[in-house]
Amino acid sequence: MIERTIAVGITGASGAIYAVRTLAALLERGCRIELVVSDFGRRLLRDEVGDEAAVDRLQPYLRSRYGEAVAAGSVVLHSNRDLGAAIASGSHTCESMVIVPCSMKTMAGIAHGLSRNLVERAADVMLKERRRLIIVPRETPMSLPQLRNMVLCAEAGALMMPAMPAFYQGPVTLDDLADFMAGKILAALGFEHQLYPAWNG
Ligand SMILES: Cc1cc2nc3c(=O)[nH]c(=O)nc-3n(C[C@H](O)[C@H](O)[C@H](O)COP(=O)(O)O)c2cc1C
Repeated sequence: MIERTIAVGITGASGAIYAVRTLAALLERGCRIELVVSDFGRRLLRDEVGDEAAVDRLQPYLRSRYGEAVAAGSVVLHSNRDLGAAIASGSHTCESMVIVPCSMKTMAGIAHGLSRNLVERAADVMLKERRRLIIVPRETPMSLPQLRNMVLCAEAGALMMPAMPAFYQGPVTLDDLADFMAGKILAALGFEHQLYPAWNG
C-alpha cells in the first residue's frame, strides 16, 4: 500500500466528533496525518468528545474507540503557531488537506489568504499548489460575510463540504451521523469505504 500524506486541521466549530471519526478512518487506511489543532479546536475536542480525546491523548483514544486498525497509520502533530512546519511550504509532499470542522473565523482567513496560523497557511499552500483542500464548515444561521467567504473558498478551488449529515440512510446514533460525514470526506479523497450505505435508488 502506498502511504498517503494528508493534512488534517481541527478548528473551533462544533462537530469535533466528525474530526475524530475522519482521523480514525484515515489512519485505518495507513495514512500519514499531519495534524494541526487550533486552540478552540482543542477546547471542542474536550467539550464535545471528552477529556480522553484531548490532543495529547488522541491516538490512544482513537485506538480504544475504533480499534487497533488505526495503528496502521501515523500522526505528526504540529503547533498551530508553527508557521515553519513542513506543511507550511509548497515543497512538502502533503497531497491533500481536510479542515474538519472548520470555524467561520478560519474559513474567513482562508477566503482572504491571511495565513495567520498553520491551519490557514497549510490551506493556502493547498490552494496555491492546486492541491485538494476539503473544508467542512459549520455554523447556523450564516451571515452574508460567512456565505461570501464560502463562495470565495470554492472559487479558489476548495471543496466545500458543510457539516450536513443526511437522514435518508436511517441514522440511529450520533456515530451514524459522524460516519456519514467521514465517509463523504473519504470519498472526496478517493478512498473506498462502507461508512454509510450507498444509495441504490
Ligand atoms: C462551544 C463553542 C462552540 C462553537 N461553535 C462554533 C461553530 O459551530 N462555528 C463557528 O464558526 N464557531 C464556533 N465557535 C466559535 C469559534 O470557536 C471561535 O470563533 C474561535 O475563535 C475560532 O477559532 P479557530 O478557527 O482558530 O479555531 C464556537 C465556540 C465555542 C466555545
